[in-house]
Amino acid sequence: MKKTTRSSEETKQLGRSLAAKLESGTIVCLHGDLGAGKTTFVKGLAEGLGVKEEITSPTFTLMNVHPIPHHTAIKTLVHIDTYRLKDEHALVTIGVEDYLGQPGIVTIIEWPEKILGLLQNKKITNVTIGHVDDTGRTISID
Ligand SMILES: Nc1ncnc2c1ncn2[C@@H]1O[C@H](COP(=O)(O)OP(=O)(O)OP(=O)(O)O)[C@@H](O)[C@H]1O
Ligand SMILES: [Mg+2]
Repeated sequence: MKKTTRSSEETKQLGRSLAAKLESGTIVCLHGDLGAGKTTFVKGLAEGLGVKEEITSPTFTLMNVHPIPHHTAIKTLVHIDTYRLKDEHALVTIGVEDYLGQPGIVTIIEWPEKILGLLQNKKITNVTIGHVDDTGRTISID
């Protein structure tokens, strides 16, 4: 699926729609340059899953773990941003493997390219966001 969004609200809306289709154990890989709208997309997806906490960028924390109070199948959203990482080691140290692909958990990753070794044989949905102009973005989900 490929769409063009014209505002951050429209990008959030695509995140909400994807949330409705996600299966437990899925890892969503978010591709796109700086400022493309990856975190914006996560905000919509989190809202769609029923996360109550505010979504902030995990650039410094590396990984934010959000409980999901009222979903039948998905109990936790894990949001990862590897931008400041060289490789997967720091994430492994803080226990990322307890979450990746596990039942009841959806993980969404900004800059997944650096940790591909951790993602092998997992159920992946790829979301690619491209700049069109100031407020236009192309978003592919597959
Ligand atoms: N159609 C759009 N979709 C998403 N964001 C948009 C759109 N139009 C403008 N924006 C703006 O682009 C910026 C996207 O920022 P965001 O933090 O989501 O990007 P990011 O890809 O997570 O960046 P980073 O690589 O720094 O983590 C926001 O300021 C947002 O308001
Ligand atoms: Mg971001």
